Amino acid sequence: MADPRPRVVIARYIPEAGRSLLAERFELDEDGSAELSERVVGAAAIVADPTVPVDGALLDAAGDPLRIVANFAVGYDNIELDACRERSVIVTNTPDVLTNATAELALALMLAAGRRLGEGERMVRAGRWHGWGPGQLLGRELSGSVVGIVGLGRIGSRVAELLHPFGVTLLCATRSPKPDEEARLGAERVTLEDLLGRADFVTLHVPLSPETRHLIDEAALRRMKPGAVLVNTARGGLVDSAALARALREGRLFAAGLDVYEHEPLVPAELLELEHVVLAPHIGSATTTARDGMARLAAENVIAVLEGRAPITPV
Ligand code: NAP
Ligand code: GLV
Repeated sequence: MADPRPRVVIARYIPEAGRSLLAERFELDEDGSAELSERVVGAAAIVADPTVPVDGALLDAAGDPLRIVANFAVGYDNIELDACRERSVIVTNTPDVLTNATAELALALMLAAGRRLGEGERMVRAGRWHGWGPGQLLGRELSGSVVGIVGLGRIGSRVAELLHPFGVTLLCATRSPKPDEEARLGAERVTLEDLLGRADFVTLHVPLSPETRHLIDEAALRRMKPGAVLVNTARGGLVDSAALARALREGRLFAAGLDVYEHEPLVPAELLELEHVVLAPHIGSATTTARDGMARLAAENVIAVLEGRAPITPV
C-alpha cells in the first residue's frame, strides 16, 4: 500500500540528526540516483543545498502539493526566490548554527594565506624541503594588521570576535549602519573603497545577489593595498576570479584564501597554477557540530510547515 504520509525529497543528503526527525513523520525520498525533477513529483517538501538549483521548472515538476523548500545552507542563491513566492512555496535556510564554523575557516584562511601554509605543505610533500631557511617562505602576520570585513552580518561579526585576541584594527563595509554592533566589536564603518585601500587582510561575508556579483572586480582589486591578502568564504561569484588571478600573478596582492568558486566544482586553472592561493573545497560549515545543527534546523523547518506552523527560519 502506498505510504499516505506527505513525501519529503532530500535532494542529496543530510546528516542523521535531521534525517531521523523527518523519517519519523514523513515518507522520505533519498534516492539521489534518479533525476531530481522526477523525484519531486507530488512532494510536499524538498530539502535542497547549495549544489541544487531550484527554479520554476523544478517547482512545477513538484506541483501543487509542494509547500516548502528547506535549504541545507544559510546562503540561498541556488534558489529562485521569486519563482517560489509566485507559487506560494516557503523557503527556509539554516542561519546561526554554522556561523562559528564558517568564521573559523575564514580565520584559518587568513592565517594560511598570510603564512604561505599551502605552499609550504606542497614543498614538504614533494620532497623539495631541505631544512630550515633564514629567508624561506616569509609571510605576513595577522596580529597588529588592519582587517577589513565586508558584510557585518552573523559570520562577519563572529570573525570580528575571533580576531580580537590578534590585536587587529577592524574596518567594516556594511550595507546598513549597525552602530551598536560596530561599537561592540570595535569596528570602524567605512566605504568599501576606503576599506580596500586600508586593509592588509580583506574578508568577504556578504551573500551573492545581483548587487554583489563581482563586488571584487578588476577595479576593486586595483584599489586594494599593495601586498594585501583576500579571503573569500562567502560565494565565488563575489570575486572576478580572472581579475584575482591577474592581481596575484602581477604581485599586487600577497595571497588569497578561497573556500568558494564562481562555477563550483570548477576551480579556474589560472588559480590552480598559483602558489600563493590557498584553495579549500567549500568546507566553511563542514564541522560535525555545524552540519548536525543545519540538518536539525532544515528538518524542523519542514516539520513546522507541513504541520501547519510558521517556519522557524524563513527567507
Ligand atoms: P547574514 O547574517 O545575512 O550577513 C550578510 C550581511 O551582508 C548582512 O549584514 C547584509 O547587510 C550584508 N550585505 C548584503 N548585501 C550587501 C551589499 N550589497 N553590500 C554590503 N553588505 C551587504 O549572512 P551570514 O549568515 O553571515 O552568511 C553570509 C554568507 O556566507 C551567506 O550568504 C553564504 O553565501 C556564505 N556562507 C558560506 C559558507 C561556506 O561554506 N563557505 C558557509 C556559510 C555561509 P544587511 O544587514 O543590510 O542585510
Ligand atoms: C554554505 O555555503 C552555506 O551557505 O551555508
